[in-house]
Amino acid sequence: MNLATLEGVSTEELTKAWNRCWEGYPYATKFREHQMEAWIEKCKIDLAHSMSLKDNGEIVGFSFLAVDGLEGWVAGACIDPLYRGNNLFTDLFRKQLEKAQELDMVKVTLEVLENNHAIRVYSKLGFQIQRELLLFRYKGEDLSLKPRKKGVFLRKVSLDEYFLARNVGGFKPPWQRRESYLRSFAPLEAWLNNDGSSGALFLGPGELLLDAWVSNWQEAEKLISWILSFSKGDLNLLNQPKDYLTAYLTQQGLSPTDIQYEMIAYLPVIES
Ligand SMILES: CC(C)(COP(=O)(O)OP(=O)(O)OC[C@H]1O[C@@H](n2cnc3c(N)ncnc32)[C@H](O)[C@@H]1OP(=O)(O)O)[C@@H](O)C(=O)NCCC(=O)NCCS
Repeated sequence: MNLATLEGVSTEELTKAWNRCWEGYPYATKFREHQMEAWIEKCKIDLAHSMSLKDNGEIVGFSFLAVDGLEGWVAGACIDPLYRGNNLFTDLFRKQLEKAQELDMVKVTLEVLENNHAIRVYSKLGFQIQRELLLFRYKGEDLSLKPRKKGVFLRKVSLDEYFLARNVGGFKPPWQRRESYLRSFAPLEAWLNNDGSSGALFLGPGELLLDAWVSNWQEAEKLISWILSFSKGDLNLLNQPKDYLTAYLTQQGLSPTDIQYEMIAYLPVIES
């Protein structure tokens, strides 16, 4: 058994390893090769600084390190089901953090489902829970909440206008809601209310909600209503920090379908 970076590993091999090692995860995580390529590109994964665990040359566990300046994000970490429960994840992830330090990274962020035992490893290696991120995944037919008929209006705006309003509104995005990450998708449709105090971003016309935020309580009901009418009653609000939107949904009796922890480790500087 040995640890090695993923530098030079083919997309085919990465895809096979990913599909094998994520087995048993509560959400569908299977990738095809073109999806793996897109994931690596959009997340800016640095394969030369991402670690794998190999047994007889075969990848049996790995982690992906995405890089944004001096900050890192774990874009996936997993162990082959046949090799789990032997503390291998701890060894792999310790090495992953050392690799991040080689890039002079100051902090690494990740998200983990609240009931995933990987949290034990992350905590042991210095990660601390920063905040909860809530997931609401509801199909229209399962949702008692219905869009209001009147009085809800958002206008389509440029991405520059959208992100400026979001920054001014004080929204602190989790990693996959960062401006640079969201801008890597196309076609994007950005919407703001009249005074720029709430907004939503869709991939394609109403197909997939990528981002939603409000900066005051009055807008929460209106924005949820607008999203529901735009997405034909479905609600797919992922990785939402606790805010007016999540408070409104909870008030309406809607529980999050899952909770993730956003965890952060601050890395010590290596003296050269
Ligand atoms: C989560 C995962 C990476 C853990 O891999 P692993 O090789 O089994 O982990 P380890 O053997 O190093 O054990 C990690 C910790 O979890 C504990 N643990 C392992 N299996 C467990 C289980 N089935 N139930 C409860 N705790 C468990 C271990 O005791 C250890 O804790 P400790 O260090 O305090 O003793 C692996 O289960 C996996 O790949 N799951 C699917 C993908 C996934 O969830 N990735 C993490 C996303 S954030």
